[in-house]
Amino acid sequence: MNKEAANVESRMQTSNSGFDFRYAIWTVFSLTILSGLFLMVYYIPQFGQAFSSVERLNEQVPFGWMIRRIHGAGGNILLILLLLHLLQIFYLGDYKASRPAAWMIGILALICTVWVNFSGFFLPLSQSSFWGTATVLSSLSALPWAGSFVVDFIRGGKELGGAALLRFYSMHVGFSAMIAFLLLWRHRVESAGELNVKTDRQRSPGILIASIFVGLLLAAITFAPDWFTDSLKETANPLANPERIFLPWYFLFLEETLKFLVGAYPFWSMAAIVIFSLSIFFLPFIDRNPERTLLLRPFPMGLGAAFLVLVVYFSLLGAANARYGEKIIILDRPLSTFEIRGAKVYAEKNCAYCHQVFGQEGRREGPDMAVIKERRRSPEWVKRFTLNARLFQPGTTMPRYEIPIDDLEALAAYLLSLDSSKERFKAVERKQFMD
Ligand code: HEC
Repeated sequence: MNKEAANVESRMQTSNSGFDFRYAIWTVFSLTILSGLFLMVYYIPQFGQAFSSVERLNEQVPFGWMIRRIHGAGGNILLILLLLHLLQIFYLGDYKASRPAAWMIGILALICTVWVNFSGFFLPLSQSSFWGTATVLSSLSALPWAGSFVVDFIRGGKELGGAALLRFYSMHVGFSAMIAFLLLWRHRVESAGELNVKTDRQRSPGILIASIFVGLLLAAITFAPDWFTDSLKETANPLANPERIFLPWYFLFLEETLKFLVGAYPFWSMAAIVIFSLSIFFLPFIDRNPERTLLLRPFPMGLGAAFLVLVVYFSLLGAANARYGEKIIILDRPLSTFEIRGAKVYAEKNCAYCHQVFGQEGRREGPDMAVIKERRRSPEWVKRFTLNARLFQPGTTMPRYEIPIDDLEALAAYLLSLDSSKERFKAVERKQFMD
């Protein structure tokens, strides 16, 4: 073997130094599982009782509140740790040093962890966890072709009710076991690979990092208890959505990606997402170049850029756009009392939380309100739909509304007047308009 080849060989086999997250991952995972076992004793997975069982645990069981917070923060921090760990492996090109299986198992563990966190988010069945989950599912159902099938499967039907709760509960427990299995498997694959690989791991401060993350966990449950655990304000009410819906942080990107990209270019964006996911998963097979510096690895560079756009950028967008319905769109001319009344109902009920008007001032959860005119809906139809959208679309996130008949007339007339080919419109502050 000449010198150059030997050089390449040794570069291939040394894992770069960097942080050793493995102790931290195991510690946080164990804390989360242990606290979870404790919670299972008190939790009742039934639609009418879940919330009160969590409340009871929180308030009456000694240290129940603490165990809950450790569990909630633990799950989220585990996800952060896995993300950091995998990002580091990606960035340093460490997947070239160990067996390809180690990387792939890591990715699977990450996906399971997202899913366990998400299913756990639903379990307290508070108003915010219910609507957060409903919103994530409704974004998922926007996936072309398979979306509604997948969502019905997750929910166990069209409704986010008792059947869904049981399903979420069993997914939560089942996928946790899966994470344990994957982490153990990964550990075996890695240590088997390391027998004939020189490694710098011994030098990296694994125990120190574990202590830092346990410290962060304690800080989170002490100073920011509501970040990772439900604040249990009120029990879920499927009939009325709250003013603002908060999605779990790891799904912020989902809604924006799906609504903006997939909505506009279903085929190409789906193709891009599938290729992106497969490339990440099979990365060690695709990137066989011994070079480790990220700047000299064009393919992983491209993947990294795609990750930045798809996940980081859209997450930030999601976080920034968390406020909707602050303005409403009205006719740009003096309005009659009847017209004002209709727009007021629209503002009061905060329909803009889910609907845009002419592509403005709302979230794209439901269709743009201009479609009502385009689709030639009758006033009668609009009124009936608004009172109970579920009669028309069983799985919809649109809540039912109780609106007095006169207000309803005005609302329907307002919605049917939204025709940009005939009149001009402007946006006004919702608060000002309501006074
Ligand atoms: C939580 C989100 C949400 C809120 C709030 C909401 N909607 Fe909807 N709306 C939807 C979704 C989603 C749809 C599409 C129906 C479906 O699920 O297929 C929809 C559809 C509609 C439609 C039918 C459009 C058509 O022609 O097909 C009308 C009319 C409507 N909404 C009116 C309203 C009004 C009026 C309000 C306020 C009183 C409101 N919506 C509040 C989510 C919402």
